[in-house]
Amino acid sequence: MIPFNKPPFTKNEEKYVLDAMSSQKFSGDGFYSKKCHTWFERKLNCAKALLTPNCTQALEMAAILIDVQPGDEIIMPSFTFVSTANAFVLRGAKIVFVDVIPGSMNIDEELVEKAITQKTKAIVPVHYAGMCCDMHKIMDIANRHNLFVIEDAAQAMMSSFEGKPLGTFGHLAALSFHETKNYTSGGEGGLLIINDDSFIERAEIIREKGTNRSKFFRGAVDKYSWVDLGSSYLPCDLQAAYLWGQLEFSDIILADRLSSWERYNQGLADLASRGTIELPEIPVGCSHNGHMFYIKVKDLDERQAFISYLAEQGVMAVFHYIPLHSSSAGLTYGEFCGKDVHTTKESERLVRLPLFYGLSSAESDHIIKSIVNFFDAK
Ligand SMILES: Cc1ncc(COP(=O)(O)O)c(C=O)c1O
Repeated sequence: MIPFNKPPFTKNEEKYVLDAMSSQKFSGDGFYSKKCHTWFERKLNCAKALLTPNCTQALEMAAILIDVQPGDEIIMPSFTFVSTANAFVLRGAKIVFVDVIPGSMNIDEELVEKAITQKTKAIVPVHYAGMCCDMHKIMDIANRHNLFVIEDAAQAMMSSFEGKPLGTFGHLAALSFHETKNYTSGGEGGLLIINDDSFIERAEIIREKGTNRSKFFRGAVDKYSWVDLGSSYLPCDLQAAYLWGQLEFSDIILADRLSSWERYNQGLADLASRGTIELPEIPVGCSHNGHMFYIKVKDLDERQAFISYLAEQGVMAVFHYIPLHSSSAGLTYGEFCGKDVHTTKESERLVRLPLFYGLSSAESDHIIKSIVNFFDAK
């Protein structure tokens, strides 16, 4: 069976993890964490980058940092992972879901403004599949209404919009290094990106259990104590050591994924031009990271038959997200603004194909051939 995903592994991860272990100092913010922080700060040219145990917790930190209060409203797409919403619901916010653009499955920027009320605190665009939202439009709306923007860039490391990396537009942003993402820190991992430097000091405190321990380690205070609310949002250095092995290979991993993505895109172009399936659109100004290749089939029934057929051919394809506004928690904690024209319909048609670092051309060709056979037999 060709799996849907294989966690990326280059070769140096093992060496660095063993090295971190032998240092006998592998709690948070150790040698490899610092190396990763510096790498991200240079690469993204952001005010601060802080590793977190996962992206969910980076989003939770963002919600604390912007001081979300019970009753505040947060605007986001419904077609996203639960953590995008949960991070804010945990602080008492109400989620206001906005419809997506079918071509990218990203929030429809043109509908965002209609969802703004007196209670709106932030907009959370999600760069689905590593494809960018129009961050100029979103930042313009946010600036005019005095709102925060937190980019959910979980899937978007190494993608950019008009030459600027995703995750560097909003006040804050979150990346994921889960094993299904392009780069992993050993299964789980995340990063909080801080672009507005007024958040740096408090972010360090919140991440260190509400203490000013980071300042103490830098020698800026002579003892540390409890100064604010917080939790433990820093990963151990073994996670950072694993990630460091991947960052060294970041361009190689990117090129490999982009070539698999392009192979699908070309191999399935004929089916798309006949109108049998739809392929993802690359938004204007977007340089994407080959995170995901999905196709859209006719409807839910065809999707089920298609996934079963691929499984018989030894190919594991999957679908995801049940739109949050239609799930039981989504009904409790959120509300869809306007009409759900695309979110449900498009999500029911979407199928993700295997895409991982090291997917061979023979595997891609087998997958493409199986897809063509399925539709030709109809
Ligand atoms: C859009 C989005 N946001 C947030 C997350 C949460 O990431 P993590 O699993 O690192 O907490 C994911 C994970 O799949 C995601 O796809």
